[in-house]
Amino acid sequence: MKVIQVSHGDGEYPVYVGQGLLGMASVIDRHVEGRVLVVSDPNVARLYLDRLRPALERVRHKRRLILPDGEQHKTVESWQRIIDELITLKAQRDATVLALGGGVIGDMAGFAAACYMRGIRVVQMPTTLLAQVDASVGGKTGVNHASGKNLIGAFHQPAAVIADLDTLSSLDERDYRAGLAEVVKYGAIRDAALFAWLEANTEGLNARLPGTLMEAVFQSVRNKAEVVAADTRESGQRALLNFGHTFGHALETATAYSVWRHGEAVAIGMVLATRLSEVLGRVETGTCDRLRDLLKRLGLPTALPEDQDPDRLLNLMRLDKKNRADQIRLILLDTIGKASIVPCPADDIREVLHS
Ligand SMILES: NC(=O)c1ccc[n+]([C@@H]2O[C@H](COP(=O)([O-])OP(=O)(O)OC[C@H]3O[C@@H](n4cnc5c(N)ncnc54)[C@H](O)[C@@H]3O)[C@@H](O)[C@H]2O)c1
Repeated sequence: MKVIQVSHGDGEYPVYVGQGLLGMASVIDRHVEGRVLVVSDPNVARLYLDRLRPALERVRHKRRLILPDGEQHKTVESWQRIIDELITLKAQRDATVLALGGGVIGDMAGFAAACYMRGIRVVQMPTTLLAQVDASVGGKTGVNHASGKNLIGAFHQPAAVIADLDTLSSLDERDYRAGLAEVVKYGAIRDAALFAWLEANTEGLNARLPGTLMEAVFQSVRNKAEVVAADTRESGQRALLNFGHTFGHALETATAYSVWRHGEAVAIGMVLATRLSEVLGRVETGTCDRLRDLLKRLGLPTALPEDQDPDRLLNLMRLDKKNRADQIRLILLDTIGKASIVPCPADDIREVLHS
């Protein structure tokens, strides 16, 4: 087991990464207080809820809430069900919410914990690679609104994150690979050594070897922790984590969130952003090929599908939150391991989308 401390404006918390953690009462015990509500989804509950039994044995007042699975249920209605359950549990200020699941459960349970009695503790127990390397760390919580993803939310840091690598063995292939895209992202924007390590370890990653997974999750969380410590509320460098995301979000929106996993869209977006970095002369020629090669070896898509209308994507990119004064601002690479936020001319973006 490895532990990374995450510092933020109001304190710090540990992220545990290792095998068998869900069954480790000694670890979980340290972070659980008061009455306990476990929130999960049906897939995860069926596979992993029982593993929490030793840790929750001593807790007298506890309940579980299994919410329907999927991004379409990341709503105010699901959030309300968590609040209702906390009320039924007679949870007080010292209660604990345990979020056992992927990013959808983590974001919703975290947001309910942020709101109930103006904030109770949440322990994140991420079970997808994406949630372990990204969503569970950093305190962003929220739900979707019909008009937009994550429109309603709050910053609410967890009391601890417990990332049990054993849970990754049951992940669907596409969900697993989508998580790998975010690991590649950390290497590309701020950690050249991680990028080179990923290039050298694609076989172990594809085979989900425990030692390789440990290193990938640990290095990703270390990178995220450093970014969160420097910029807890995303006023500066935390925006660099959006590398590939502006292109990716446009693609996700254009396909009504029904074709691509988030990480797959981000993989395509990272290739487009790197191609643009080359077109603008910001990065050495060949960098895009290097990134594309790594993503391909990890089984990720790297090109826009033929049927996408580039002008529609460009219009969708104009809606991104990073934009200022009508200019599209993107995260571009300076080199592998370093990125900047750059205002980009629409014509150059169009050229890359058409190429
Ligand atoms: N808060 C943040 O900083 C942050 C960052 C990135 C993404 N997110 C959010 O994360 C969400 C996506 O998260 P996700 O990709 O984990 O999706 P998810 O939570 O929907 O999980 C994907 C699927 O995997 C299943 N699953 C989860 N763990 C499993 C396991 N161990 N074995 C088998 N199946 C399992 C789930 O039931 C679900 O069907 C999005 O809503 C996104 O907005 C939040």
